Amino acid sequence: MPLVNAAELVKAAHKGHYCIGAFNTNNLEWTRAILAGAQELNVPVIIQTSMGAAKYMGGYEFCQTMIEATVKAMGITVPVVIHLDHGNYEAAKEAIAAGYNSVMFDGHDLDFEDNLEKTKEIVKLAHAKGISVEAEVGSIGGEEDGVVGEGELADVEEAKTLAATGIDFLAAGIGNIHGQYPDNWKGLHFDRLQELNDAVKMPLVLHGGSGIPQEQVQKAITMGISKLNINTECQLAFAKATREYIEAGKDQQGKGFDPRKMLKPGTDAITDTFKEITGWIGNKPVKMVPEAL
Ligand code: 13P
Repeated sequence: MPLVNAAELVKAAHKGHYCIGAFNTNNLEWTRAILAGAQELNVPVIIQTSMGAAKYMGGYEFCQTMIEATVKAMGITVPVVIHLDHGNYEAAKEAIAAGYNSVMFDGHDLDFEDNLEKTKEIVKLAHAKGISVEAEVGSIGGEEDGVVGEGELADVEEAKTLAATGIDFLAAGIGNIHGQYPDNWKGLHFDRLQELNDAVKMPLVLHGGSGIPQEQVQKAITMGISKLNINTECQLAFAKATREYIEAGKDQQGKGFDPRKMLKPGTDAITDTFKEITGWIGNKPVKMVPEAL
């Protein structure tokens, strides 16, 4: 069974100046689409659920079981990480108990001291079970599944203090936003990214990956970004392909109304989006990261 935690994979990416895509799943089709893309490209993959998506699907135990069963049923052989995205304290503990391989504890809305104490507790609980941990400093602008951030830039001293708790990788606000970027978006704050990278010397995570110009992401990867989170891009691709199917009247031809037929173009579009992004972020085929296995 190729389920692994994310620590070694993301560390190998950091060392090799490439990046691993972390794709949010929302249901079975999403899960199959992401796994199919990873298997086809022979790359490791982080598949993650937000708290909202986990609630929608039936909870952490359901998600863990569904993803693990899908990995098995599809005969997936590449390393797969089941990760909690933006978990609060309770969610992180639940995901650890449910058997996730990796959790993000997002304490950005707490006082820093509280964020720090709870991060330490989650690290202790998770590491005792071989589960990797992501923490957050600063905040990611915009809203994702009810988690709202003002988009404060990460404070370098706070980042250093959080990094010292033993976390495996750190999400940092550097002007990135969840969801679609507004036309007047000023771009990533590379000066702050440089300061953070110099200070923490650990893999950094770029949230809000959808819609950031490729050259900015690629530059960020050379400056310590080793995990790129993507959700909206796959949602847009799924919606577009599904709309085209309906607008072409295909649901009214033969058995085109069968959900397995109706959801196929959208599902394939997610796989294509996965493959396209994975290509330009430089995620390495499995055989090229033996130290990660
Ligand atoms: P996007 O929806 O903007 O791609 O962000 C995804 C994300 O950062 C998940 O944590």
